[in-house]
Amino acid sequence: MEFTAIACNLLTKKTDCLVITLGSDAEDNPTLQSIDEATGGLVSRLKKSGDIKNTIGSSLLINEPTGLAADRLLLLGCSKNTLNEQSFLELTSGLAKKLTTLPINTACVSLDGLQVESRDEAWQAQHLSRQLEESSYLFNPFKSKEKKTTSLKKITLVTASRKVLDTLKKKLNVGRAIANGVNLARELGDLPGNICTPSYLANQARTLSKKHPKLSCKVLNEKQMKVLGMNALLSVTAGTDEPAKMVILEYRGGKPSEKPIVLVGKGVTFDSGGISLKPGAAMDEMKYDMCGAASVLGTFTTLVETELPINVVGIIPTVENMPSGTATKPGDIVKSMSGQTIEVLNTDAEGRLILCDALTYAGRYKPKSVIDIATLTGACVMALGSHASGVLSNDDALAAQLETAGQTSGDRVWRLPLWSEYDKQLKSNFADMANIGGRSAGTITAACFLGRFTKNYQWAHLDIAGTAWNSGDNKGATGRPVPLLTQYLLAHAGQ
Ligand code: BES
Ligand code: MN
Ligand code: ZN
Repeated sequence: MEFTAIACNLLTKKTDCLVITLGSDAEDNPTLQSIDEATGGLVSRLKKSGDIKNTIGSSLLINEPTGLAADRLLLLGCSKNTLNEQSFLELTSGLAKKLTTLPINTACVSLDGLQVESRDEAWQAQHLSRQLEESSYLFNPFKSKEKKTTSLKKITLVTASRKVLDTLKKKLNVGRAIANGVNLARELGDLPGNICTPSYLANQARTLSKKHPKLSCKVLNEKQMKVLGMNALLSVTAGTDEPAKMVILEYRGGKPSEKPIVLVGKGVTFDSGGISLKPGAAMDEMKYDMCGAASVLGTFTTLVETELPINVVGIIPTVENMPSGTATKPGDIVKSMSGQTIEVLNTDAEGRLILCDALTYAGRYKPKSVIDIATLTGACVMALGSHASGVLSNDDALAAQLETAGQTSGDRVWRLPLWSEYDKQLKSNFADMANIGGRSAGTITAACFLGRFTKNYQWAHLDIAGTAWNSGDNKGATGRPVPLLTQYLLAHAGQ
């Protein structure tokens, strides 16, 4: 899709569909008033008759409206003149769903008369384009009868003020770039485990890096990981025939001397649980256990499209977790790259085993900060559901930056503590630590485990087990937390 912004007369604007919002007071909205006048009072009559409901999620489409140059007029209910962020996102996601199902090529959107608490027009523009582009996502490769994607190609945001045109255009493009990252993460998540293997993810990273001069890619194989001492990671891959990989992406947009931000994404392309086999119900959803990795690849897609002037490293440890005669057994002890030993009491707590070696490797970059992203614990789904990702951090400033980025992007997080009392639950009688911490506080003890490998830098852990995909009828990857991560990077780049 192409996005642009203009300041023009809506009445004479030729477009397949003109979109305007219905605030609480038409008097406050000159755009709405002028449309009402041009159409001979149509809008007022529809409001009075009750044909159009002024609530979020409702809209009314009018074909060939008289008095306007547009082919269609879409009246968008929004209940109030001033919305909070969440309601605005609900409104624009509804609009995106509506517009992408209409048989139109172009649309003109006016958000005149609509305010968002403590957010400006630029913020609105970024979310509008992001949601429209996200709505074009279609996962098709395995359906014999193909569904068609939207015909919508060009969206114009109409503004009352010429001064902001350049800013709006920029933000529309940022929003689209974020959506492209989100959509890549969704596609990788939705692909089944027999296609999206560790090698597949590595190839995706290579392909992306070849397209961009500022991006380079290195892939470590099992032999190289063995030399580095990554035995915790290798213990997870012991039961499968699929070769494990450690993918390293380096984006150089900043000065060479500038310390990088490192993103580490869990890439378990299928998590059967291993010898500690999972129950059968919904086990298919464990193909989504690589959504952390997918979010790193998605974020890098956005990064190269927006060409941010910062340095970012992406590290993706990727494996398949399967039971077999060669698989790691409960009670086995392994030595991690850091030198610390781990008693594997449950082979289904595999995410932390691959992440700990990746986090040790991340230390080599002398990073400014490290964020790992993982579908790590079912306990996080119980605690926060699907609305917020869990964040746990050894640095208050970093945690606060992520909370702010979550609020700005609508891709929110909620912080949980990392107190030493919880860490004690990882005690092992036979090794430096166990890989599980008992039944209580599973999300926190998992993060405490990772915290033992991140002592030398500022670090945050994002548990996305509840946010990375939807279950049920709506089953599919969400692309979260790409919006959160890109917002964090944007803020870091001063944008
Ligand atoms: N990938 C799972 C976490 C998960 C489970 C995410 C369900 C989303 C939905 C992870 O590898 C896992 O199995 N974690 C275990 C840890 C336990 C054995 C300590 C869990 O949460 O049950
Ligand atoms: Mn598991
Ligand atoms: Zn897992």
